[in-house]
Amino acid sequence: MLPKLREELSLDFVIANGENAASGSGMTPKQADELFSLGVDVITLGNHAYRRRELWPYLTQQQHILRPANYFQAQPGHGTCIVEKGGVSLGVVNLAGNAFMRTAFPAFSTIGDALGEVGAADHVLVDMHAEATSEKVAMGWYLDGKVTAVLGTHTHIPTADARVLPKGTAYITDVGMTGARGGVIGVKKEQSLSVMRTNMPIRYEPSDEDPWINAVLIKCTTLRKAESIEQILRPLSDKE
Ligand SMILES: [Fe+2]
Repeated sequence: MLPKLREELSLDFVIANGENAASGSGMTPKQADELFSLGVDVITLGNHAYRRRELWPYLTQQQHILRPANYFQAQPGHGTCIVEKGGVSLGVVNLAGNAFMRTAFPAFSTIGDALGEVGAADHVLVDMHAEATSEKVAMGWYLDGKVTAVLGTHTHIPTADARVLPKGTAYITDVGMTGARGGVIGVKKEQSLSVMRTNMPIRYEPSDEDPWINAVLIKCTTLRKAESIEQILRPLSDKE
């Protein structure tokens, strides 16, 4: 759907969280290249960043794929980058939450340095990949007026709180999941139900039932400020 959306919505930059691209867990270099070739400018990740070993060297080589900035420095990859198009630059920062996640440092102690790395950018987008809604809401308030957007990811379910905060930062607690709405956050629903009803493990397979795109469209003119944030929630069948 992305090439058509790029045209229809006149998109300048497209940022995608790709940590579940490989059958729901991690991402391979081939899948990253596929996303880039479809028009994704920057790929962010999260707690599944290292699930595919073949991605480790790629994270260091490819500037436009990010793992959370608040991981250990010794872990492969980097957490920020700047992309430029038509004379406008966008800094992207990937952060991970601390509740129920194996994250090296608190997001709030790392964000200052991360913002320094993208200090030259006209706009900044922060992907706050976290389980707890409170951590994401808090990061939105903390960065209001400092960055163009703070977008939450990880829980796979879009939240109903998209808005521009008082000092001009676009915010949503969770963008949601581009994937099968007919499953249980990406997994075949029969398999997920079986595990929940029996407590017996199963090798999960990704669902392909009723795929939807979940995204947000952010419009901005003034430096580091958003004018609007609008949810894009569409079934594949509408457009194909
Ligand atoms: Fe995640």
